[in-house]
Amino acid sequence: MPDSPFYSAVESRRTVRDFLPDPVPQEVLDRCLDAARLAPSSSNLQPWEFIIIRDPETRRLANAACLDQMPAKTAPVLIALVTHRDTWRRNRDEILRIFEGRGPLRPSQASYYRRIIPVIYTTGPFGVLGPLKRAFSRLASRFKPTPNLMSRSDIRVMAHKSTALAAATFMLAMRAEGFDTCPMEGFDPWRAKALLDLPRGAEVNMFLAVGRRSEKGVWWDRALVPREWAVREI
Ligand SMILES: Cc1cc2nc3c(=O)[nH]c(=O)nc-3n(C[C@H](O)[C@H](O)[C@H](O)COP(=O)(O)O)c2cc1C
Repeated sequence: MPDSPFYSAVESRRTVRDFLPDPVPQEVLDRCLDAARLAPSSSNLQPWEFIIIRDPETRRLANAACLDQMPAKTAPVLIALVTHRDTWRRNRDEILRIFEGRGPLRPSQASYYRRIIPVIYTTGPFGVLGPLKRAFSRLASRFKPTPNLMSRSDIRVMAHKSTALAAATFMLAMRAEGFDTCPMEGFDPWRAKALLDLPRGAEVNMFLAVGRRSEKGVWWDRALVPREWAVREI
């Protein structure tokens, strides 16, 4: 890989499962969180929330929700990365407000955010419209290229995709700062959601343990499946 700060962060990032107790300076954390906020997201709706767990009792319970995995227990900082399906309207309104503050809305911005986004995100009470929207999209697709108009579960996938990109950006930024992370999907989602008092349309995407790797922080050497399984041209 070329010799550059970017590639060196990508290459040296490893999942770290044992951390030194050294604190993570707040300004480093803030820079990396701000980098993560620049991640791409579907319709730029930024469906994420990074919850930094500072309270000791909440931290103890969060560690337990993370099944007391070693990275959770040893990391000086633990973050719950939450994905929201319930913030699209608020965030859409904020984006419109920002655009409008810069001058008249472009017709494409107005139609996208005022008309198209509500069609995508509205699924009716108990999501009943979702299967109909999906079935309609699938039928229309036989006749012309048609986007999936999204059921509730499609929206959930979409929100998780965007949130995971913010996670990746955060982890690489941390590495560029000389710190390490462990993304964790191994947790109890029900306990985590209750602990963080999340609303119905939100759930933990992953936990992120953050700190500096100890000597025994990286457990295994890298193991990549063959390139041709991961990349192909047609
Ligand atoms: C979504 C996701 C969830 C993961 N969950 C866990 C986890 O719960 N515990 C853990 O130790 N590692 C977890 N990992 C780390 C992976 O095991 C690790 O990324 C993989 O083995 C490759 O190693 P590397 O990150 O050092 O390249 C997770 C990674 C991702 C992307």
